Amino acid sequence: MSTPSIVILISGSGSNLQAIIDAVAEGKIHASISAVISNHPDALGLKRAQAANIDTIVIDHTEFAERSQFDQTLTNQVAKLKPDLVVLAGFMRILSEEFITQFEERLLNIHPSLLPEFKGIQTHRRALEANKKQHGASVHFVSNELDSGPVVIQARIPVLSDDNEKTLAERVLQQEHVIYPIAIEWFVSGRVKLLNNQVYFDDKPIAEAATWISNTLSLPK
Ligand code: GRF
Repeated sequence: MSTPSIVILISGSGSNLQAIIDAVAEGKIHASISAVISNHPDALGLKRAQAANIDTIVIDHTEFAERSQFDQTLTNQVAKLKPDLVVLAGFMRILSEEFITQFEERLLNIHPSLLPEFKGIQTHRRALEANKKQHGASVHFVSNELDSGPVVIQARIPVLSDDNEKTLAERVLQQEHVIYPIAIEWFVSGRVKLLNNQVYFDDKPIAEAATWISNTLSLPK
């Protein structure tokens, strides 16, 4: 069997991208990254990809008069690469329905909250304002509704009494770097699948996502 190929979409820093690059290099993800695509020409993540000798592609959304032209270009570009998995790693554009449909069941995202809580932006601030005792991040398959779609794995951390938005965001991000490579390896090795909007783990439908708490991994239930 040929090595599964991954295309990664970014918009910014690319620290999750770096965690994935490292996991591939360390043999923790059995796949190759065929390209990194950014909608920002100056995204730091592009430099991270280049340093790892990964092809980079810029599709600058500001150069398109119509949103639909950007969407079509992105869809065509990713389709051309024929990826087994498309990974969104801080990609800050809302994907078109066509894109999601085309890559359905092989499209993962990471979101900095314990979904379904705090979809959208400013998740850390909102978790603090809501006095949450726990916060975290979720890796999920992408559906047509924003930050929805079945969850594969979540990292949970306690919210500390002296946390502010920045400290909480940093601690969540560290956990993202752990759970995203795990979820990606599960997908490319065939352990995790999405069928009819249901996540399967080792061919069994799961009712609850896997969790990563205090460096301990619990498999999905
Ligand atoms: C992360 O917080 C991720 O959860 C969200 O965007 C951020 C990307 O950070 N989707 P980075 O570019 O991977 O550093």
